[in-house]
Amino acid sequence: HLSVKERIEAKRRAALAGGGQARIDAQHKRGKLTARERIDLLLDTDSFVETDMFVEHRCSDFGMEQDKNKVTHLPEVIFYFFNIIFCLCLFCFSQDFTVFGGSLSGAHAQKICKIMDQAMKVGAPVIGLNDSGGARIQEGVESLAGYADIFLRNVMASGVIPQISLIMGPCAGGAVYSPALTDFTFMVKDTSYLFITGPDVVKSVTNEDVTQEELGGAKTHTSVSGVAHHAFENDVDALLNLREFFTFLPLSNQDPAPIRECHDPSDRLVRSLETIVPLESTKAYDMLEIIKAIVDEKDFFEIMPNYAKNIVVGFARMNGRTVGIVGNQPKVASGCLDINSSVKGARFVRFCDAFNIPIITFVDVPGFLPGTAQEYGGIIRHGAKLLFAFAEATVPKITIITRKAYGGAYDVMSSKHLRGDVNYAWPTAEVAVMGAKGAVQIIFRGKDNQAEAEAEYVEKFANPFPAAVRGFVDDIIEPSTTRKLICSNLEVLARKKQVNPWKKHANIPL
Ligand code: COA
Repeated sequence: HLSVKERIEAKRRAALAGGGQARIDAQHKRGKLTARERIDLLLDTDSFVETDMFVEHRCSDFGMEQDKNKVTHLPEVIFYFFNIIFCLCLFCFSQDFTVFGGSLSGAHAQKICKIMDQAMKVGAPVIGLNDSGGARIQEGVESLAGYADIFLRNVMASGVIPQISLIMGPCAGGAVYSPALTDFTFMVKDTSYLFITGPDVVKSVTNEDVTQEELGGAKTHTSVSGVAHHAFENDVDALLNLREFFTFLPLSNQDPAPIRECHDPSDRLVRSLETIVPLESTKAYDMLEIIKAIVDEKDFFEIMPNYAKNIVVGFARMNGRTVGIVGNQPKVASGCLDINSSVKGARFVRFCDAFNIPIITFVDVPGFLPGTAQEYGGIIRHGAKLLFAFAEATVPKITIITRKAYGGAYDVMSSKHLRGDVNYAWPTAEVAVMGAKGAVQIIFRGKDNQAEAEAEYVEKFANPFPAAVRGFVDDIIEPSTTRKLICSNLEVLARKKQVNPWKKHANIPL
C-alpha cells in the first residue's frame, strides 16, 4: 500500500522507463534513439514541459489488461508542450516504439490531439516524431477513430500553424496520412519507411517482389514519389537539421517571417555573377551557385533536393529575413517545367504564401517539357498549379530573369502579370515566345534566308528590351547588384498588404 505521493513517483518512474530496457536496447541496436532521447536532442536543454505522463491505454481485450501491467504504465506517446528551439516556442510529440511498437491506441491519439489543439490555441508549430507500427490492432475502430481525429486537426491547422513530420521508424497504413497532410515530411535513411501496404500485401495483390526499403524507404520518397522533402543520415543528423530548419519558419500565419541578426552585408556586390551565365544560350550552368552566392552566408536549406531537380526550392535569408527561393535549374532538362517540378514548386510557393515568407524567383526556363508522357500525365493540369500558386500569392514577390523566359513558362514564373512586385532582368535575359530556331522554322517555313531570319529574331527578341520597354521588367540590372537590390526591395515590401477577393476557398486544379 503506497501513499499517493509514492504512487505518483512510481508512475512517473514507470513512464520514464517506456517499454523497458530490453526494448530500449533493441531500439538502440537498430541505430535508433528512444522517444525521449530524440526530444532531448531536438529541443533546447531543459526548455520543455511534458504533459499527460499519466495517461494510460484503456484496452482490456486480447490480454492487454495484463500487458498494461507488464509493460508499466505506458506513456505511449511522449508529448511535450511549450518546448523551445532557439527561444522559439513549439509543440512536439514523439512516438515511443518501445511501447507496443508505438502503435496508435485511442489514448495515444487523444494525447496527440490535445497538443494539436493547444498549438492552434496559441499559434505555434507542431513537430511530430513518428515511429509507429500503425493502428493498435487490439483496439480496432477506436484506433481508426484516433487517426481520423488527428487527420481532421492536421487539415484544420493547415495554413494556420506550420506542421512538420519527421519519420524515424515505420509509418504504415492509415498512419501515413497524417505526415502527408503536414507541410513538410522528413525521413531518416535506412531506418524509416512509409507505405500504404507493406511488401507482403503488395506481393499478394500485384505479385511484385519489393523490399520495405524499395517500397517506402527514404530514397524512394525523396527521389521517386516526392512524398518526403528531405532524408537525413541518422536520428542525430535528422534532429539537428530539423532544429536548423525550424529557425526559418514563423510561428503561425499571424506572425511575420523571422528575422535573424545578419553579418553578411546587405549591399555586398557579387562579382562572380557577372560571368556565371554562359555566352552560349544553350549551355548549362548551376542555378544553385547563383542562389548560394546571393543569400546570407551561402546558407540555403534546400527542400526536395533529389526530386524534380529541374526546379530548385528552399529557404534562405536575405539581410536576416527568411525568404523562399524558387529557381529553374538549367543543369537538369535545361530547366524545363514538367509535371513534377510544377507540383514541387506550387506546393512550396503556397507554403511561403500561407506563412508570410517573401518569394524570390530566379528564372531561366525554355518552356514546358514537350511529349506524350507529359501530356498524358496531365501537364496542363499540373502546370496550372504553379501558375495558380504564384498568381494567388500575396507575399512580397521578387523575380530575376537570368536568361530564358520563354512562352507560357515566362508568365508562370512569378511574372509582372501575376502581380510580381519587383521584376528584374539580367543583360543576358531573353524574354520571348520561344527560342530563335523554333520560331523561325514556324514563321518562315519553307522560305530561304533562314539564317538571316534567325539573326533578325535574335536581335529583336533574344534580349531583355521587349519586356523592359513595356515595363514588364522594372529594370535591367548588373548581376553583381542582385543581392543588394533584393535586400533593399524586401525592406520596402515588408510593408506590403494585398488581399485577394473573399471566397470560401479557391479551386486550385488538383
Ligand atoms: N498494434 C499493436 N501492437 C503492435 C503493432 C500494432 N499495430 N505493431 C507493433 N506492435 C507491437 C508488437 O506486438 C511488438 O510487441 P512486443 O514488444 O510486446 O513483442 C512491438 O510492437 C514491436 O513490434 P515488432 O513486430 O516486434 O517490431 P518490428 O520492428 O519487427 O516490426 C512493424 C515493426 C511495424 C513492421 C511490425 O510490428 C508490423 O508489421 N506491425 C503492424 C503494422 C500494421 O499493419 N499496422 C496496422 C496498419 S494501420
